[in-house]
This record gives sequence, structure tokens and C-alpha cells, in this order.
Amino acid sequence: MSEETPVIRFFRGSKPIGVAAVVADAPILEMAEIAGVTIPTNCTSGNCGTCLVTLREGKVELPEDLPPGLDEELVQLGGTLTCCIKPIGSCDIDLIPPAW
Ligand code: FES
Repeated sequence: MSEETPVIRFFRGSKPIGVAAVVADAPILEMAEIAGVTIPTNCTSGNCGTCLVTLREGKVELPEDLPPGLDEELVQLGGTLTCCIKPIGSCDIDLIPPAW
């Protein structure tokens, strides 16, 4: 196979803190766990916004109706919820959420 395996790279600011191969059909949080990266969570169902991070590179599967923990403004700033949103291919994730 010549295709590269998609990976999620985790950062805190500019500091790389972990990397994991993309798990099909799994939310970003699962790859964080594999990478040994702790992301604070609460509801784990898209409601509270505790698991908000910043998507620096790559794409994620955003539902048409955004979950309550996310809004258009946050999405514009790169905000994404790790507990319920799945990556599409490789992504760079900064654990520091977007500044409002
Ligand atoms: S843990 Fe509540 S929105 Fe992700």
C-alpha cells in the first residue's frame, strides 16, 4: 500500500504532545486516548463544550445541525468537539480552544 495512513497530531499551542493513527468512525477523543493525550470531558455527547479544541489543519465531519456545545462562530475559529466529532483524514489538533 502506497497510501499514507492518516494520523491525528495533537499539540498544546506549538508543542507536539502526541500522535495516533485515525480510527475509522471514531471521534477525535478516542485517538487522543490512544496517543496518551488527556482531553477534559464532561457530557461526552456534544452538549457542554468541555472537550472543545482547535482544529489547525485538516477536516472533520461536522453534523448539519451543530451540537449544542458548538456554534458557527466557534467553527469559524477552528473550534471542534473531540467527544463526538470525527476526523476526515489527517488532522492537527491544538488542545487550546479558540479564543472567543
Ligand atoms: S464533553 Fe461535553 S461536548 Fe464534549
